[in-house]
Amino acid sequence: MEPAIKYRLIKKEKHTGARLGEIVTPHGTFKTPMFMPVGTQASVKTMAPEELKAIGAGIILSNTYHLWLRPGEDIVEKAGGLHKFMNWDRGVLTDSGGFQVFSLAKLRDISEDGVAFRSHLSGEKLFLSPEKAIQVENALGADIMMSFDECPPFFESYDYVKKSVERTSRWAERGLIAHQNPATQGLFGIVQGAGFEDLRRQSARDLVGMDFPGYSIGGLSVGESKGEMNRVLDFTTPLLPTDKPRYLMGVGSPDALIDGVIRGVDMFDCVLPTRIARNGTTMTSQGRLVVKNAQYAEDFRPLDPKCNCYVCKNYTRAYIRHLIKADETFGIHLTSYHNLYFLINLMHQVQNAIEQDNLLEFREAFFEEYGYNEK
Ligand code: GUN
Ligand code: ZN
Repeated sequence: MEPAIKYRLIKKEKHTGARLGEIVTPHGTFKTPMFMPVGTQASVKTMAPEELKAIGAGIILSNTYHLWLRPGEDIVEKAGGLHKFMNWDRGVLTDSGGFQVFSLAKLRDISEDGVAFRSHLSGEKLFLSPEKAIQVENALGADIMMSFDECPPFFESYDYVKKSVERTSRWAERGLIAHQNPATQGLFGIVQGAGFEDLRRQSARDLVGMDFPGYSIGGLSVGESKGEMNRVLDFTTPLLPTDKPRYLMGVGSPDALIDGVIRGVDMFDCVLPTRIARNGTTMTSQGRLVVKNAQYAEDFRPLDPKCNCYVCKNYTRAYIRHLIKADETFGIHLTSYHNLYFLINLMHQVQNAIEQDNLLEFREAFFEEYGYNEK
C-alpha cells in the first residue's frame, strides 16, 4: 500500500542542516518548511478558502475536539468530509483533541483508557479515547491526522512525564490499530517528554518503531522559554527519521519558526497570527505593530511597507485602525489576512535561504530588523 503522505527531501542547508522539502498529500503538494493556518472550527477565522489560496496556503489545520462537539463528525461525514464541507480542496490536518481536552475542558480524569471531561460548550460529560479520536478523525477525512496524546505541563515531575510518555506510546499504538483509512489519511505520532532528554528519546524510539508517515513534536510552546524550546528541539529532531516530515505543534512566532527550521522542523501551526489580528495587532518586518493604537490614527502608510499582500497594497493603517475601533469586522479580516500572509511569506523566504545556503545570514538580518535581540 502506498502511504497517504509522502515526504521528499529536496536539499539540506549547508551550514545548519535545515531541510527544504515537499509533502505530497491526497489534496495537493506543498513545499516545506511551511506554516499552516489554523481553522479550529472548519474555518480559518475571517478567511475565505480563495483568500487562503491567494496567500499560498497549501494545508490548513482543524480540530477533532471542536468538530466532534459541534456540528458532530457525522454531519461533516454526510457533507462528504471536511474538504467538501468547508469548500477547501488543498491539504487538511486534524489535531486529535488530546491537547484541547487538556487546555479547554474542565475536570479531566485521565486513565489508561482515555480522558473523561466536561464539554466546554454544554458542560456535558464526555469521554475521549485513542480509538474515539481516530474514529472522529476518520469521519472528518483530513489528509493528515494526529494520534491521541497527553501534553503534560512543561515543568511536571520526571516521574509523571515518564508515565505520561509511556501512556502516550500505548495510545499511539491503539490509534494505529483503530485507523481505518491509511491509504488516504496519514496518521502522525506525537513525541512528548517535556524538557527531559531521555524521555524525549524514549518517546521518539517508541513512535519511530511504529513507523508513522510523519512525526509531531508536542508539549512545547506551553509556557517554557524560547531557549528551553530550542534546547529540546536540539536533541529531539535528530531522533526522527530523515525521510519523514517533522511537525512542531503550536508554534507560530516568527523567531521560533526560523529557529525551529534551523533545528530540522518542516511544519508549524499556531493560532497566534489570527488571534492577535482580532485584537488589532499585526506582524511586520519591523516587529509587532498594534494598529489599533492612537498613534496610527493619521498614518496613511500600509501595515508593512515591505509587504506585498493584498492588504498592504490597498489599505492604510489609519483605515484599518478606524475599522477596528468602530467594530467593523472587515478590520479584523484585513489584519488576519496580512498576518497569515506574513508568516507564509516568511516561510517562502526561509525556503529560498535554504536553497541559497544563507539561512544564518537571513536569520540575523530578520532578527535585527524585527527587533529580537537574543543571540
Ligand atoms: N498542539 C500544541 N501542542 C500540542 C501537543 O502537545 N499535542 C497535541 N495533540 N496538540 C498540540
Ligand atoms: Zn501585508
